[in-house]
Amino acid sequence: MSAPNKAYDPVEAATLSAGELQRMQADALAAIAAAANLDELKTARLAHAGDRAPLTLANAEIGALPPAARADAGKRVGAARAAVRAALVQRQADLEAERDRRVLVDEAVDVTLPWDRPMSLDGARHPVTTVGERLADVFVSMGYEIAEGPEVEAEWYNFDALNFPPDHPAREMQDTIFVAGPEPGERSGKVLRTHTSPVQIRAMLTRPLPLYVVSPGKCYRSDALDATHSPVFHQIECLAVDEGLTMADLRGAINAFVEAMFGEGLQTRLRPDFFPFTEPSADVSMQCHVCRGASAKPGGEPCRVCRSQGWIELAGCGMVNPRVLVACGIDPDRYSGFAFGLGIERSVMVRHGVADIRDTLEGDVRFSRAFGMEA
Ligand code: DAH
Repeated sequence: MSAPNKAYDPVEAATLSAGELQRMQADALAAIAAAANLDELKTARLAHAGDRAPLTLANAEIGALPPAARADAGKRVGAARAAVRAALVQRQADLEAERDRRVLVDEAVDVTLPWDRPMSLDGARHPVTTVGERLADVFVSMGYEIAEGPEVEAEWYNFDALNFPPDHPAREMQDTIFVAGPEPGERSGKVLRTHTSPVQIRAMLTRPLPLYVVSPGKCYRSDALDATHSPVFHQIECLAVDEGLTMADLRGAINAFVEAMFGEGLQTRLRPDFFPFTEPSADVSMQCHVCRGASAKPGGEPCRVCRSQGWIELAGCGMVNPRVLVACGIDPDRYSGFAFGLGIERSVMVRHGVADIRDTLEGDVRFSRAFGMEA
């Protein structure tokens, strides 16, 4: 015997009877009304509006009915499903409102409660903060604007746009802490920024020219903590892009900052160096502000601040590499730029004769009190 024709199966046809549909709808509405919280409502939604719910299955059966019965069945199933959907939306809104009301009550803080502990008046601003602010102030007073960027930075800003070739050892030279690979549709992954130089790129891409910005901020490298290295430290970056800027302008900016930080009359020295994002590049030293270049203190005692070198290395600098200008959509035939970057902890150490970078990290208020307020 052949199987009965599906279109005329009396059992299936019966599930779409008015009475049956009403029962399904009533069951669904009762379950929705009984849901006491959002989790229970989720269960009710699955049971009565999910793929295997009776009304969903009934809807799928409409196509198998004789053509004459379809329109009527379609209307009745549609109405029942719409009623269930509307009830779900309403119950969802009610339960969410109830949850929000509860959170407001549960998490309320009574700010009028008396507090019996004396307030500590012992704090002091940290010298990394005050010296960083002072450095930034020097440039703000010369017309520079403060620019900021994120500490979790796209590799593209931290390296590619700064002319670090892919897979170039320079990426490892900076002991990068990699955070995540590229998201779908993005061209690079994320790193904890290894320097403040990516803020240069952000500034060049978003600000009008001419551009004079200074960017203080936190940087990260996978260095082990010792007397001269810390995995987290602060840098300050200075960038100028304008028509006709030369290394003489760079030198002038550096001299202005050394004078403001360490006093007048100290010579600066630029020696050739390499950074992918500047060409030519140089490292900046200044005459030791303690022995003033004599390598020894007046009594003949060796100078500890510059380790009897007479000079103290302070910063990296250079003329913005034209490839970097091009990556930021700037015409290198019309504009040139200079940049320099330096470590704030290092400046604090030099300025205040601190020998161990760990002293700048420990948050001991006696350290802050000794240097912070006067910085
Ligand atoms: N970003 C460099 C570093 O962290 C420092 C630096 C060198 C910044 C030269 C500059 C620059 O802006 O021009 O080692």
